[in-house]
Formats: sequence, structure tokens, C-alpha cells
Amino acid sequence: MRIIDGKSVAQDIKNNLKTAIARAVERCGKPIGLAVILVGDNPASKIYTSNKVRACEEVGISSYMYEFKDGTPEEDILSLISRLNADETINGILVQLPLPKGYDEGKILKAINVHKDVDGFSAFQIGRLNMGDPQLVPCTPLGVLALLDYYNIPIEGKNAVVVGRSNIVGKPVASLLLFRNATVTICHSRTPDLAGHTKRADILVAAVGRAKLITADMVKEGAVVIDVGINRTEAGLAGDVDFESVAPKASYITPVPGGVGPMTIAMLMSNTLKAYELQNGKD
Ligand code: GUN
Repeated sequence: MRIIDGKSVAQDIKNNLKTAIARAVERCGKPIGLAVILVGDNPASKIYTSNKVRACEEVGISSYMYEFKDGTPEEDILSLISRLNADETINGILVQLPLPKGYDEGKILKAINVHKDVDGFSAFQIGRLNMGDPQLVPCTPLGVLALLDYYNIPIEGKNAVVVGRSNIVGKPVASLLLFRNATVTICHSRTPDLAGHTKRADILVAAVGRAKLITADMVKEGAVVIDVGINRTEAGLAGDVDFESVAPKASYITPVPGGVGPMTIAMLMSNTLKAYELQNGKD
């Protein structure tokens, strides 16, 4: 069994990005800018956004952090997005999710110019992904595939089982695995006999947000287990996979923390560079 070290893979990717970003900036003669919008004071979101800003500093992207109090009128956020859409120094815009209760998430995300949608959440970007012409792909799914590739884990012809069908992770990661010629099953909260499906997985991706849902009896000997869950429990952070019991059966497994999490941010940096290049005429 090998533990997949997402932290060091992400660092490696960021180091390479730093060089690529410096080259792109020199070629185009202007800086790369990412706007990060945070509404409310969700402690996890605060940590995620400050990690994103720190990663920008590391790789050479100018970050612009916009923080709004919970209760700020939706129009104020929409008018900021509209200004950022028109601002040539801003190449990527992200609104940290979840938004506090009462905000229309769909309306706010739809306001972001699809060419600056570095989260890849827009119908345009998801549509491109599903048609096999991906441009800006959601960061966590991209991070999952990057981990598999980094460890030279074969995907083609494998049975991949994704547990979870969110727009942010489950569905796009299934799309990416499908385009790499895996045979993909998507399971969800209404799937009868979940274990019957997961036990057939050569590659098992858990992205449901339920602590330690996946136990050893649900996993095939030698499976590759990718845990996207980050659940706050009384005992601390826990993934969707019961690491202790599953690890001895797995050929590869991601820990929580230090697995998929750091990859999401590295992929955000990569998407921001990609958006910049697309906006500056590189296809
Ligand atoms: N909340 C949890 N994951 C994400 C993500 O990838 N992007 C944004 N914007 N919010 C999130």
C-alpha cells in the first residue's frame, strides 16, 4: 500500500507553475490576477480562501480578496462581479462556496464571465467538459486526475466508482474518468446496495461528505482509493473513507488531510494561468 502524498505533489505542481507563470507574464507583459470573493464568516471558507491567496503569492499570481459580511445585499456582490468581469487585470474570479443562507448561489455564479470562471462551475465550462472539449475544469476533479497521473495509475479499462453526484466533484470527476476510458459508475444517497458497487471498483472516489462512510468491507483488495471528503467531527478532520481499516486493503490511498485538498488549490493556480493564456490569445 502506498499513501498518495497530495501535499508534495501539489508543491511540485506549484513549483512548475511558478516557472510557467513567470514566462507567460514576460511574454504578455502584464500580471495575472485572481479575484477571490468570500461572503460571511464560515471558518472553513476563511481558511480555504486564505490558502488560495497564499498559493497565489507562491506562484506569482496577483490576488485580490473581497470579503463581505453576511447580510450584504446580493446586488453589491453582483455589481462587484460585474466590475471584475470588465477589469482586464482580473483573469479569474471565484466565489467561495457555500454562500450563507439567503443568497441565490446560482444567480451569483451565473454572473461570472465564463472565460474567467476558474472554478469551472458554469454551464459553459461544464458543457465543454461533457462534450470532450474541456477548458476550465473544476479544480478538485482535476486534482484527482493529476494525482492518478502523477503516480502512473492506469485509468483506461478500469472500473471506476464515484460515490457522490455533486456538480463540484462527483459529476465532473466521473466525466474526466470516462474520457480517460474508465468504465464509470456514479453512486449516490439513493443507491441501493452501495457496497455491491464499491466492491467492484478498481478506482474508488469518495465524494459524499459523510465521515468514514467507506469501510474495509466495501473495498476490493488492491483498489486505488481517493478520498475527497473533508468532514469536521468531534474527533477532528475525517475523510469519507475509514482510512485505518481501508488502507491495508488498498494499493494506493489518499489521506485526509494532505491528499486531495492541497491539489484543489494547485489546480486553481493552473486554471488561472490557463484563463490568462486564453484571454491573451493562446488556445
Ligand atoms: N467550496 C468547496 N470547494 C470549493 C471550490 O472548489 N471552489 C469554491 N469556489 N468553493 C468551494
